[in-house]
Amino acid sequence: MTCSDRLVLRRPDDWHVHLRDGPMLEAVLFATARVFARAVVMPNLRPPITTVEAAQRYRQRIKNALTDGLVFTPLMTAYLTDDLDPEELERGFAEGVFAAAKLYPANATTNSAAGVSDLALIAPLLERMEAIDMPLLIHGEVTDPDVDVFDREAVFIERHLIPLRQRHPGLRIVLEHITTEQAVDYVASGDQRLAATITPHHLHLNRNAMFVGGLKSDFYCLPVVKRECHRRALVKAATSGLPCFFLGTDSAPHPRAGKESACGCAGIFNAMHAMESYAAVFDQEGALDRLEAFASEFGPRFYGLPLNTDTIALVRQPQTVPNQLTLPQGLVGELDSGEAPVFFHAGESLAWSVDLAAGD
Ligand code: NCD
Ligand code: ZN
Repeated sequence: MTCSDRLVLRRPDDWHVHLRDGPMLEAVLFATARVFARAVVMPNLRPPITTVEAAQRYRQRIKNALTDGLVFTPLMTAYLTDDLDPEELERGFAEGVFAAAKLYPANATTNSAAGVSDLALIAPLLERMEAIDMPLLIHGEVTDPDVDVFDREAVFIERHLIPLRQRHPGLRIVLEHITTEQAVDYVASGDQRLAATITPHHLHLNRNAMFVGGLKSDFYCLPVVKRECHRRALVKAATSGLPCFFLGTDSAPHPRAGKESACGCAGIFNAMHAMESYAAVFDQEGALDRLEAFASEFGPRFYGLPLNTDTIALVRQPQTVPNQLTLPQGLVGELDSGEAPVFFHAGESLAWSVDLAAGD
């Protein structure tokens, strides 16, 4: 095997993931924790994580669900609501429980009904976060029914994000799971306090994926995948070597029945092959030498956290992605196998494989 067939990387982190709770958490945690050293865990549970105590308890449930030998640190987030107390947020951040806070515009996505109904209402929270340098993670879509679903991110930037950054110039912001060239341009032109995460699926898919040959709910996520020109802009951004763009999978598992219903859930479960999926894109762009910075360096630098010191290896060894989890130690756990989420890239061949045993 030549060195171009084997890539040793500093162990990556996932700066945006949905780990869920209960049997789903037990089923999917392995997929993230086997590769990623840390992950920023989204708080959109039912009920959402709005207190320090709830975050501590959720963190403990995640740790309890770790199977033997997995070394993984969950970084918890607070779910912002109209009436969350700034004291609670500050206390959670000061105690090292909250790594960041997540802004969901009310009803923008899965379990966001309790989200923020009007940004003016959370001005005191944002002021406090700015003062204590606590990162704000944003689901950047408007919910206005008059705005086309495909335009909701670009309109959010114009109507809400630009004014918000003018009001709070010191706030450290991550625009999560960006999907448009408008977002790429806006983030690239920002200062060091502005960054964005990019998912594997938005790098691979354009909106045809959802519709050609039949309606494919497996490719439905939010923000929804866009036109090819936007996908191209995202690929360029991710492989650019600019530190404002870093890895966040937005892996968002839903039970089969949730995806395949008359009102199907948004979310793609990509955690299991996320690094292989990113590697495919970087390889295609001739940018494999930039994968490590995107996956393992820019995120921790933005969050002010140390870089991981252990490594993983990616090897050029093709694998066919199975449909769904059939895990060691019955990792689907108590999930009925008919309910187990389907993998992103199911049935496809990926050129790279993670080799965990061969880090160094
Ligand atoms: C996420 C989920 O299912 O929790 N869904 C998704 O399509 N990305 C929520 C989110 O990040 O918007
Ligand atoms: Zn998400």
